[in-house]
Amino acid sequence: MKATKIYPAQVLVRFILLFFFAGQLTAQNLDVPYVPTPHDVVAAMLDVTDVAPGDYVIDLGSGDGRIVIAAAERGAVGHGIDLNPVRVVEAEENARKAGVSDRVIFLEGDLFDADISRATVLTMYLLTSVNMRLKPVILERLRPGTRVVSHSFSMGNWEADEHLVIDSRHVYYWVVPANVRGHWEWESKGLRFSMNARQEFQKIDIDVNTGNISLVVDDPLLVGDRISFSALNRNNGHRYLFSGRVEGNTITGTTQIRSGNSRSVENWSASLRRR
Ligand SMILES: C[S@@+](CC[C@H](N)C(=O)[O-])C[C@H]1O[C@@H](n2cnc3c(N)ncnc32)[C@H](O)[C@@H]1O
Repeated sequence: MKATKIYPAQVLVRFILLFFFAGQLTAQNLDVPYVPTPHDVVAAMLDVTDVAPGDYVIDLGSGDGRIVIAAAERGAVGHGIDLNPVRVVEAEENARKAGVSDRVIFLEGDLFDADISRATVLTMYLLTSVNMRLKPVILERLRPGTRVVSHSFSMGNWEADEHLVIDSRHVYYWVVPANVRGHWEWESKGLRFSMNARQEFQKIDIDVNTGNISLVVDDPLLVGDRISFSALNRNNGHRYLFSGRVEGNTITGTTQIRSGNSRSVENWSASLRRR
């Protein structure tokens, strides 16, 4: 059999073709086509999430890397994930040109397999259907307080905390809420209190009792892992302002107590008894 000679140039051409077709093939499995976010919208996404040094930013479907690179230019560290290897090479090159290669990396992979738990800020420009698949993962895996921003696409029944329109493009912003659902108990100044909390994403609805008295609750608020509300005992006029931080099955914080002219501040420590 006659041996075929292969010249270095041919090897190079074959390699380029293989790389191109591999890229195209992978591209066929993409859940979202490549469309870059305009730079002014990237800036708005980083403004609304308040990206700053100390943040770890993850962009799911990172394209040419522009979101993670712009975040690094604001002092953050982070990485992007894209299924298309051509995009990953392009993003690495753009990071190098922007002088931020030491703070960002780009990984080839499927965003549905990505470990997003280390993000303090998660960015996306995907599709509503993809966001909906990601929603339970975001709520389960991201720490309460993590900021999430999506260009163009919402997250269905999880209403955004903020919704901006920049040059007719929509930007949605959420803070991952802690899970406070359930029955909580605590003591303050010798009195026993209980709270039943119902929750739909960041919206909470709570009842507070002390003994067999129901308090009048106002302004219940949950932002990430921070909870606050006021409660009035109509029988004796005592007004409580509770504010604290949720960590698993405990809330720790402060109670301000007002009664007539008297004012006091106590520590607040509540325990979850059952979900
Ligand atoms: C609309 S572009 C957004 C690019 C970039 N985030 C931006 O805002 O400029 C979506 C990106 O997601 C990538 N992508 C699509 N499906 C993916 C998947 N399952 N896993 C990872 N990346 C994916 C595409 O290759 C594309 O680069």
